[in-house]
Amino acid sequence: MRRVLARHLGVARSVDAGADDVLITSGAQQAFDVIGRVLIDPGDVVAVEDPGYPPVRQLFESLGAQVVPVAVDEHGIRVAELPARARLVYVTPSHQFPLGSVLSLGRRTALLEWASANEAVIIEDDYDSEYRFSDRPLDPLQSLDQEGRVVYVGTFSKTMLPTLRLGFLVAPPSLLPALRSAKRLTDWHNDYVSQAAMARFIDTGGFARHVRQATKAYGARHRQIIDAARELLGESMRVVPSVAGLHVCLVPVDDAEPFDADRVAADAAAAGVSVQSIARFSQGDHRGLMLGFGAIAPEDVPDGLRVLGRAIARSAHPQPDR
Ligand SMILES: Cc1ncc(COP(=O)(O)O)c(C=O)c1O
Repeated sequence: MRRVLARHLGVARSVDAGADDVLITSGAQQAFDVIGRVLIDPGDVVAVEDPGYPPVRQLFESLGAQVVPVAVDEHGIRVAELPARARLVYVTPSHQFPLGSVLSLGRRTALLEWASANEAVIIEDDYDSEYRFSDRPLDPLQSLDQEGRVVYVGTFSKTMLPTLRLGFLVAPPSLLPALRSAKRLTDWHNDYVSQAAMARFIDTGGFARHVRQATKAYGARHRQIIDAARELLGESMRVVPSVAGLHVCLVPVDDAEPFDADRVAADAAAAGVSVQSIARFSQGDHRGLMLGFGAIAPEDVPDGLRVLGRAIARSAHPQPDR
């Protein structure tokens, strides 16, 4: 599995790795856990994106870290705002979770320079970069890294099944022995049957074919959701530009207009449409909604967005309770 995966990552993502650089984990979440166990001492400062992926923040807090949120804009994490004391920084460069921005080349370079100057380690979470709907992706931080400061983390949760619990990390030689020990002490190893099946699927070309087909289907749905959201909700909501992944974000056009994302989400849910408030992913104040489209049938998109539009209109013009 490690040999096949290293070759696949080299071809698909320009990740520079051999079999010995790879550690198989139970989903990306266990990769974050073993990295945290090895690198975090209680009280250490760890930087995460804000808005960002809550399970990582919660995990690092549970390991005793002082987790510092760092703002994200259309170029990804604001590197200039990283705390100098951080030992570890967690980022989603290919497709920022949840906003969808791509970490620009300038910021990638700046982040690597920051890590070098501060002797910090960067966790690169490449959770859904297989689904990319535009031009060639930027090279991952892992392949730009000259100093062994990046641990690259991937998962089969988006390309296969989240219930498979199959993920991996690619780490520099200086960190691998400790990461391997942490994994072994946690659960010895992942189950061999699913690893063997997955390795064979990758090795025989089936996985690449599956990802190509899925990317085509999700790309069409991504386009459909964006076009329909602009047409049906464009007066009140703006689509945050995105070129990858299985979700898009919408933010209110008018900052002054009342917008209660929790209420919109609850109203929409009552009518059978599930969306999430971006504020859920932030320590600060973020107005907007995240729409996952991985599991919705294309024919249901327009009606779903109409339901959402009515919930947004009710939030903007609340009726007094009778
Ligand atoms: C930002 C991010 N990272 C990683 C993952 C995948 O986690 P896992 O491999 O543990 O299922 C997800 C899944 O939703 C995610 O949104």
